[in-house]
Amino acid sequence: MAEQQTLSVLEPGAATDRAVATAVAQPNIALIKYWGKRDEELVLPRTDSLSMTLDIFPTTTRVHLDRTALHDRVALNGASATGEALRRIVAFLDLVRERSGRPERAVVDTRNTVPTGAGLASSASGFAALALAATTAYGLDLGPVALSRLARRGSGSASRSVFGGFAVWHAGHGAGGPDGDLASYAEPVPAGDLDPALVVAVVNAGPKDVSSRAAMRRTVDTSPLYGPWAASSRDDLAAMRTALLRADLDAVGEIAERNALGMHATMLAARPAVRYLAPASLTVLDAVARLRRDGVCAYATMDAGPNVKVLCRRVDAERVASVLRGAAPGSTVHVALPGPGARLLDEAWR
Ligand code: DP6
Repeated sequence: MAEQQTLSVLEPGAATDRAVATAVAQPNIALIKYWGKRDEELVLPRTDSLSMTLDIFPTTTRVHLDRTALHDRVALNGASATGEALRRIVAFLDLVRERSGRPERAVVDTRNTVPTGAGLASSASGFAALALAATTAYGLDLGPVALSRLARRGSGSASRSVFGGFAVWHAGHGAGGPDGDLASYAEPVPAGDLDPALVVAVVNAGPKDVSSRAAMRRTVDTSPLYGPWAASSRDDLAAMRTALLRADLDAVGEIAERNALGMHATMLAARPAVRYLAPASLTVLDAVARLRRDGVCAYATMDAGPNVKVLCRRVDAERVASVLRGAAPGSTVHVALPGPGARLLDEAWR
């Protein structure tokens, strides 16, 4: 796989003088959702999750060490990062500094091509790209699994964007501490000869009112439906692995759709309720149900936002996209295929 080739060219010791690196990563969409942490600090999830990395919406991040700077400087799409976004990136750089033993501050320039904060997994591609660029710039030579473990600390779903195609993120075991940290990482998941596409209907690209971090905390703390969903999600994951191996896209879609709707049910039952789905989301869900009645393999999944992603066969993707465009006028619709994992750009070798 391309990302493994790219990562494996890093030789131990060879990277120590490299003070600049640029990495690219793509978002992933979970077919079995991550919703709920058992350790906030280490970002340890309560359940395993499974995703497909997309070939669209890359995030490109350049990290450059500045020996003379007293603070990290971070630009997000050309504008200086502030507040929570800056705090999370600096906290992540602190982890990389701690591991590398290098104290320098960094200049980070990150460019997202996906709307930020709209439930389109910008934090997944963002922290996967940052993890690879920062560890390389600081001279750390992590393999993909260790990189995934580290990316998890920035944003849980980022652990999966280290890998291309389908990836499973293991919840691991233990309450926290070093053992909990070690056991929770993502890795590629075996799949048969599927030819899937994910049609992304962006019904609203604005930032969400409640962050996924806050919403999942509230759900775990207050929703009576959380426990039952987490238990059924374990069964969904086992069934999903079988469906992927058998290359049974109808089964994959059916399991993904019920898992996502269940996750939204847990939020609706939180106190106070969290509702990400908008009227346009439900209109798209109706269109997906109609496509199925017409014999098209099409199943929906939704994250912490109103946008709907529809899993279908690659040969049907354009038809599905045009049905969704007609169903939700004003939305923008993108067709994604399975994409690559996080990788370095050539600049790192100069
Ligand atoms: C609904 O990975 O953004 O997209 O770990 O708090 O940063 P933090 O959360 P994040 O949550 C993603 C939740 C989800 C489901 C998923 O991607 O599995």
